[in-house]
Amino acid sequence: MSARIIDGKTISADLRGKVTDAVHRLRRDRGLVPGLAVVLVGGNSASKVYVRNKSKAVTEAGLQSFDQHLPENVSEAELLDLIGLLNADEKVNGILVQLPLPPQIDADKIIAAIDPDKDVDGFHPLNAGRLASGLPGLAPCTALGCVRLAKAVHTSLAGLEAVVIGRSNIVGKPVAQLLLAENATVTIAHSKTLDLPSVCARADLLVAAMGRPEMVRGGWIKPGATVIDVGINRIAGESGKEAKKPRIVGDVAYGEAKEIAGAITPVPGGVGPMTIACLLLNTLHAACMQNGLPAPKI
Ligand code: GUN
Repeated sequence: MSARIIDGKTISADLRGKVTDAVHRLRRDRGLVPGLAVVLVGGNSASKVYVRNKSKAVTEAGLQSFDQHLPENVSEAELLDLIGLLNADEKVNGILVQLPLPPQIDADKIIAAIDPDKDVDGFHPLNAGRLASGLPGLAPCTALGCVRLAKAVHTSLAGLEAVVIGRSNIVGKPVAQLLLAENATVTIAHSKTLDLPSVCARADLLVAAMGRPEMVRGGWIKPGATVIDVGINRIAGESGKEAKKPRIVGDVAYGEAKEIAGAITPVPGGVGPMTIACLLLNTLHAACMQNGLPAPKI
């Protein structure tokens, strides 16, 4: 039987609607309008598209947008100065520095300079530590999106065998921490894991976040499992008689996997749209925290 498709577009639209409502209430009842500053350095075309989409979503949700575009050759010191100004600006509740940054800038140094309470990407080491310690803080948006998609299928993740493939600070590690906080039994697999297919085969919940096009095959998946595919890989078009256009694929061989899994996210239209929705949610939470208000339960 073919798997249930976990529709990230619908689930993210629902979340964005709820954030918009909460932002409206915050403005009406407290006169507060959460603000997000997105900092883009240089002209990386993928980054420009991301930033444009983020800004549009921010405005649509009723948040204030404070976008900053700096030239490719900006110095690290100049970028640090801008972070300092944004940290001090009360209207700015969230700061996101779009990655990657040009080679003259140390991204770790920039992330560490952001006020952890405004770190809506959840990349600051203090927020990573808070997440690992089970303390309240801001968690990375894609990881939050993955867990929300899993919870759209399972009312509780407690006791599930979860396997996360990939150990990045942006997705793999925080997803594993969030699943642990949901009481799943979590394994983190990676490029050095021995016999990856048999590790995957025990997963009730499989999160693929290693950035390898279609690496997880249908035969690796436990029948009925929930599969969350974080990969966004652009595959070049094939030449020859049956020429194919370039296409976007995930880290999971979708055509095979959907015949075995119980539920699966498509690529595109699965995890991708959740990231921006969770960024809006993090900005709302940051604004509430900074003003001594409880975070709305969304
Ligand atoms: N570049 C690609 N994805 C992201 C993201 O989620 N946050 C930041 N800051 N940069 C990115």
